[in-house]
Amino acid sequence: MKVLGIETSCDETAASVVEVEDIAAGGRLLSNAVASSMDLHAKYGGVVPEIAARSHIEAIMPVIQEALDTAFPALVGYKAKQWQQIDAIAVTYGAGLGGSLLIGVLTARTLAIAFGKPLYACNHVEGHVYANFLTGTALPGYKMRSAAPKFPMLAIIVSGGHSQLALFQNHFDYKLLGQTQDDAIGEAFDKVAKITGLPYPGGPSVAKAAEAGNDRAFKLPKAKMAEKYDFSFSGLKTAVLRQAQAMISEDYTFPSKDIPARLSEAQKADIAATFQRVAVETIVDKALLAYEEFSPASVVIAGGVAASGELRKQLTERLPKLIEFPDLKLCTDNGAMIATLGCYKAQLGQPVADPYTLDIQPNLSM
Ligand code: KG4
Ligand code: ZN
Repeated sequence: MKVLGIETSCDETAASVVEVEDIAAGGRLLSNAVASSMDLHAKYGGVVPEIAARSHIEAIMPVIQEALDTAFPALVGYKAKQWQQIDAIAVTYGAGLGGSLLIGVLTARTLAIAFGKPLYACNHVEGHVYANFLTGTALPGYKMRSAAPKFPMLAIIVSGGHSQLALFQNHFDYKLLGQTQDDAIGEAFDKVAKITGLPYPGGPSVAKAAEAGNDRAFKLPKAKMAEKYDFSFSGLKTAVLRQAQAMISEDYTFPSKDIPARLSEAQKADIAATFQRVAVETIVDKALLAYEEFSPASVVIAGGVAASGELRKQLTERLPKLIEFPDLKLCTDNGAMIATLGCYKAQLGQPVADPYTLDIQPNLSM
């Protein structure tokens, strides 16, 4: 079973071919093509939906062709033969930016009709989890997991739009244990980057600045939640803002846009390091609680913030069991995770989508 996965929910135009023969063994990555419009958004300090959608239109067909050419190098130039190798198409239909999702979904629908392939509609966040079911590749530069995760599986889902814990009893049989009640952790990284004048996207730039900082430079709060496994990051973000204002001897009325120019590099590093430690601890504290309550056979991390070295470090130190991480390139948005999810859907008889009517769901939840 070989599936072409298409992902366009935010600012990455991505396509990939994944092969799954034995669902217990995991998938094999045949290609992973990504074109990002991130550079175009950087000067605005965040993703501009119109620019993202326009970039997807330009990039989508070349990216899909690159995914096919890399997966089937002996058939480069023989498009029809490449398509004969593909058993199904999987596409992200939510959650995400409406205009961005639309390009991927309309492209996938058109290709499914034109080439007569079954179409699988994928939830972006479930896709992030399925990056953990990739175990093999001949592509250079990938460090793959040694085995597919076992059930029951605790999933720590941390991205720009999501912070949640989910317990999977089996494929497509899971319950949400808790989620953020306000900002997602990735969003908090992005906002702290803005407060300190570090470039977008915030995750990697905060991580880099943190290397030179003291991660216990000052105290930051961890939110107390009514529900055991829920999260909140908006209070932490505000506490960082107040701390930055205090560091430059100003009060809460001082405009945040003027803060970066007044902070020294050492102060920025301390803010980055202390924020990063506390934000990640908030996630790991609750993941450990869930681990103790449910004794899962495996723990996986998923989403853009799964690329965080601090998260990987804290989990490795604190989890009683050794945890395996997906390659960094499979953590941020990519087509491979969608292709993998599509393979499992196809192998396990999940419903197919109607290529004539499949619609986007920007607010889709798990
Ligand atoms: O999954 P993703 O690519 O897009 C969404 O589905 O939201 O996640 C993007 C988020 C951004 O907020 C970005 O700042 C964060 O992932 N991120 C990181 C790191 N790399 C990306 N956060 C912390 N540490 C990183 N190394
Ligand atoms: Zn994502």
